Amino acid sequence: MINALSYVLIGTPDLPAWIQMATTIAGLQAEEVEPGKSVRLRLDDKVQRLLLQAGTGKPTLGMGYTVTSPEALTAATAKLEAAGFSVTPSTAEERALRGVSAMAHFIDPDGYRVELAHGLQSAATPFVPGRPIGGFRTRAGDIDLGIGHTALMAGDFAAMKHLYHEVLGFAMSDRATAPFVAEFFHVNPRHHTIGLADTGTGPGVYHLMLEYKEWDDVGRAYDMALEQPESIGVSLGRHSNDHVTSFYLRTPDGWMLELGWAGRLIGKDWQISELPGMSLWGHDRTWLPPAKREQARQILKDIAAQGLRAPIAPTE
Ligand SMILES: [Fe+2]
Repeated sequence: MINALSYVLIGTPDLPAWIQMATTIAGLQAEEVEPGKSVRLRLDDKVQRLLLQAGTGKPTLGMGYTVTSPEALTAATAKLEAAGFSVTPSTAEERALRGVSAMAHFIDPDGYRVELAHGLQSAATPFVPGRPIGGFRTRAGDIDLGIGHTALMAGDFAAMKHLYHEVLGFAMSDRATAPFVAEFFHVNPRHHTIGLADTGTGPGVYHLMLEYKEWDDVGRAYDMALEQPESIGVSLGRHSNDHVTSFYLRTPDGWMLELGWAGRLIGKDWQISELPGMSLWGHDRTWLPPAKREQARQILKDIAAQGLRAPIAPTE
C-alpha cells in the first residue's frame, strides 16, 4: 500500500534559519515558492522533499507517504475510514505546492498531519546541492527507499502503533527496551521508515533522518556543526539496527535532523529481534535525563566488551 516516506511538511516560526541550516550544513537545495511563506527543499531529482511553510504558532511536522497507485490511495482511504480516521481530500492548491497528482490527508493519534500521495513529480532542473556533496540516497536501483525516516516520541504509543502497523501496514523491523522502549517499522527495504519511542515525554518529534551517499559528507556536516557544539543533540555514532553512522543536528524548531550514511537494506527473510541498545558506539544523547544517559553509556560499554561489530552496508 504505502511504498515510501516521500516528503515531509515543516511548519516553522523561523523560516530564514531553516533555509540557512538546510542549505549550508545539510546541503539541501532551497527553491522559494512564495518568498517568506513557502520554500521547497530538494535533495534529489524530485520537485520537493521537505516543504517549509512559515507559521506563527508552534512548529509542526507532517509526513507525506507515497502509495503505489491511485487505486492504492482509494484503498488506503477506505481502510483509514473503517478504522475511524477522518480522511480529507486535497485541494488543487495543495497538490500544486507539493507537486503531486493525487493526495488525501488525515491526523494521526498524536496530532501529526499525515498525507498519502501519488505521482510526486520530478523537477525540470537538476538537483544543485547547497554545498558540494555527493547527493542523498533515496533509491536502491529501481527501488524507491524514500528520503529516510522519522522518529517520534509517542504520546499514545499503543494508538500510534495500531495506526502505522495494523492499519497502514508498516512491517515491524525490531525493537529496543533500553535506554527507552522504541519500535521500528518498514515499508520498503530501508530498515525503518518510522520509529516510535515510548519515552514518556511525548508527543514530540525526535528526528528526521536523511542519508548521504558519501561518508565524507557526514564528516563535513559534523565539522560545521562542531562550530556551534550546542547544535549537536546526539554525537557521532552508529546504530545497532539500521547500521547508519550519523549525528543529530538540532533544527531551528528544536527537533533534530539525523544526518547519516550507509543504512543497510533488509529483505523478505528479515527476522524481528530485540536490540541490545540503540547504538553500537557513540550517539551520546545530550537530551536524555542524567540517569538514562548513564544507562546508555553502560550499554555501550557492555556492547564494547562483547566486541559487537557490524559490516558496512554497500551504498551503491
Ligand atoms: Fe534515526
